[in-house]
Amino acid sequence: MKNNHWWKNAVVYQIYPKSFQDSNNDGIGDLQGIISRLDYLQKLGVDILWLNPIYESPQVDNGYDISDYRAINPILGTMADFDQLLAAVHQRGMKLVMDLVVNHTSDQHRWFVAAKQGRDNPYRDFYIWRDGKDGHAPNNWGSYFSGPAWKYDPASDQYYLHLFAPEQPDLNWTNPKVRTAVYQMMNWWADKGVDGFRMDVINLISKPAGLPDGPQSADEKYATVEGFVPNGPRVHDYLREMNKNVMSKHRMITVGETPGVTPADAKRYADLHNQELNMVFQFEHMNLDTNPNPALGKWYDQKPRLTDLRANLSKWQTELAGTAWNSLYWNNHDQPRVVSRFGDDSTEDYRVKSAKMLATMTHFMQGTPYIYEGEEIGMTNAGFTKLSDYVDLESRNAYHQLVEDQGLVDGPTMLKYLGMHSRDNARTPMQWDDSTNAGFSHHQPWEKVTANYRRINVANALADPNSIFYYYQRLIKFRHTMPVITDGTYALVPGNEDDQEVFAYTRHDQDTTLLVILNYTDQALERHYDVPGNAKVLISNYSDDQGSTLRPYEAKVYQY
Ligand code: GLC
Ligand code: CA
Repeated sequence: MKNNHWWKNAVVYQIYPKSFQDSNNDGIGDLQGIISRLDYLQKLGVDILWLNPIYESPQVDNGYDISDYRAINPILGTMADFDQLLAAVHQRGMKLVMDLVVNHTSDQHRWFVAAKQGRDNPYRDFYIWRDGKDGHAPNNWGSYFSGPAWKYDPASDQYYLHLFAPEQPDLNWTNPKVRTAVYQMMNWWADKGVDGFRMDVINLISKPAGLPDGPQSADEKYATVEGFVPNGPRVHDYLREMNKNVMSKHRMITVGETPGVTPADAKRYADLHNQELNMVFQFEHMNLDTNPNPALGKWYDQKPRLTDLRANLSKWQTELAGTAWNSLYWNNHDQPRVVSRFGDDSTEDYRVKSAKMLATMTHFMQGTPYIYEGEEIGMTNAGFTKLSDYVDLESRNAYHQLVEDQGLVDGPTMLKYLGMHSRDNARTPMQWDDSTNAGFSHHQPWEKVTANYRRINVANALADPNSIFYYYQRLIKFRHTMPVITDGTYALVPGNEDDQEVFAYTRHDQDTTLLVILNYTDQALERHYDVPGNAKVLISNYSDDQGSTLRPYEAKVYQY
């Protein structure tokens, strides 16, 4: 390989274990289920599998509330199953990345159980405890999952901080014992052979000094922590220390989940020469939707304008080039399905065309692509219509807060927003075939299967040479074989900056130029680009090339 960063031309596939494949018919996906589908993933061609948390957990937040970092959740399998999975992944030449959730633990973790024993327990300082202020919480912070970020503990007459659910108390990273315990745990997994970590909300681990009140607008019950808690004062010290103690000792890949980062922040976290992380997940392109009512936060119903999307993606391409590394993703377990959100699932033809167009947009950019399970067959949003269909606590809490407590929106409207943005859209069972429960399980799944599974499923995709699956397979192969995708320069086609319908960019190195042309709309359009006579179409979602005529959602890449 040309560069010394082995992961640079790799493609990652994200598995949400509870929803991937159930092997023992209890309705919950599991590790043996993943093992049984490795041939499928190998056929797709991905290099690295990232598993959402599989550790012991009461599942208040689907595994992001960990009660034992060194044990496998029995609903998913045993440590022997895990060892078998890891060996089977390695045998196929793939790598395995674990989720690392160390901003917080579960309140059932033995550290927190001990900490709750009282103010002088040796584990007390593993968490963030404060006295109340005049009978109120220590400050005005709100939790990411609605309500206050502090919970009162009557036994010790103190509050503890939880940026997420009350069952997810935040660890106190200023305590060196916490940091040592985390590094030891990471090394334990690395010694087992795990190839890297995706680090959950890692830019929240260092809190603002003194935990001061945050800005709070008149219509907010609590201050929105997103605005001022991320990227705290010591976060880079901690990550350099972690790198020295863990990453530098193993050949691993790391990606930090870092909500609220700008390119300047990302360059500090993921500088190619600094000793922190390999790359981060930024969220700017997930937050471009124009929101008619800012008080509703992420709950809205408009797809981003192409001008905003292009400006944002291009900014990240240009600003990180040569100094840091991008992650490229459209969806994950916290985001709606890309084809429903940025594409068009209104007809079968548009679903397939727009899914391929969006895949083309990111897979030819510089960075590491992350494919979320089901994306490669164009799985859509869940289509839930009742609050009782929703499992995710964020969605349920938001409904209760915005509709019932604050009356900011009426019930039917909120259900429409949940239909577009709930995290449950990503968490419905993987659609393998058209049998009952989509081939995921013979038992009623823990989360409802999306109704369109008889049409949209892996079996159909594998049987159709023009499927989204085979398109992704080709995109992955290009990344493995074409250095221009990994290392070439990125540029917008001159004049494309303000085009509201078509996105056109080039990648270029001394040997090759790629011209990527993407129709973001369902309209036929005319666009003239200078394409040399010797250019060939490398890939397209239409079977022929009509030159300057671009059909709905057409994507094509010229190579010359
Ligand atoms: C991250 C995870 C999300 C989880 C939260 C708290 O954003 O991706 O699923 O709820 O952190 O751990
Ligand atoms: Ca199971």
